[in-house]
Amino acid sequence: MNAICARNLSKSYDGKSMALKELNLEIPGGGVFGFLGPNGAGKTTTVKLLTGLLSPSGGECSVMGVSPAEDPCGVHRICGVMTESAKMYGQLTGTENLVFFARAAGIQPAECEARANELLKRLDLWDARDKKLSAYSTGMAQRLSFARALVHGPEVLFLDEPTSGLDPESAQSVNEMIAELAGREGTTVFLCTHQLRYAQDLCGSYGIINKGSLLACGSLSELSAGIGCRTRAGFRLADGEKPEGMERKDGWWRTEILREEEMPALLSRMVEAGYHIYEARLIRPALEDVYFSYVERQEARL
Ligand SMILES: Nc1ncnc2c1ncn2[C@@H]1O[C@H](COP(=O)(O)OP(=O)(O)OP(=O)(O)O)[C@@H](O)[C@H]1O
Ligand SMILES: [Mg+2]
Repeated sequence: MNAICARNLSKSYDGKSMALKELNLEIPGGGVFGFLGPNGAGKTTTVKLLTGLLSPSGGECSVMGVSPAEDPCGVHRICGVMTESAKMYGQLTGTENLVFFARAAGIQPAECEARANELLKRLDLWDARDKKLSAYSTGMAQRLSFARALVHGPEVLFLDEPTSGLDPESAQSVNEMIAELAGREGTTVFLCTHQLRYAQDLCGSYGIINKGSLLACGSLSELSAGIGCRTRAGFRLADGEKPEGMERKDGWWRTEILREEEMPALLSRMVEAGYHIYEARLIRPALEDVYFSYVERQEARL
């Protein structure tokens, strides 16, 4: 069974234009799925549909086999959700907010405070635990919102821009926690983000969406192959050496290869030809390059 499933899932807010057009997704359990797309692409709409915060205009979806349309409470038990609109109580302290949401999710009273304390420590909010949320900075409130999404130990975690307002240290610790949850604890993480460099380190697979349509889905190498972004072999050579048919960029002579298995033979040919190779490496397409290629190709077609 896939952890997250969508079939022809569609949403129109005004009955005219489609914010999400017939989305089909099958995301297996465990690991981080990166959902990428420009502003207004339909990412938050998808998260809200999958977690039952919105009802679809067409199609269907499920999380761990549970349909949010038929059993919203069941989906809330399974899922942790962090969206920009997920509000907590300004007049309650950090600890009180987490204990409240843990109780609301059905956690045994004796366990709630222990869970809250563990998350407050882990997210560097321990010193602010007795402060009211209204006195938190934006980044502190965002970390508390992340803790709230985790407080009931969800099997599936939906994170909508979890690090957008965070300083680099906090962003790093949130990203480390996401990696840990998906790795050791087997949580399935659905991550919407604009931060493509972080996404490339964190995610095992991706969906790219623009203007409500899913453009591609798969691992980075599948996405690269799908749009013709090739791997290159790169060489740093002695000054003055110019290998035929290669282009030079940032001090590296580069040539496209179809598969990385071509590298050893290419290296041998260059050594035989007398080049002095100081460094050799595979230059794989970055997520950023692949993402822009898909979005630009769709823009050009419209
Ligand atoms: N509550 C709403 N009422 C009407 N239209 C909405 C509403 N929420 C979103 N939309 C529209 O739906 C489309 C998709 O918006 P959505 O918020 O899902 O995009 P997004 O990918 O999350 O963008 P961002 O990166 O800016 O967060 C946009 O055209 C947006 O204007
Ligand atoms: Mg959004």
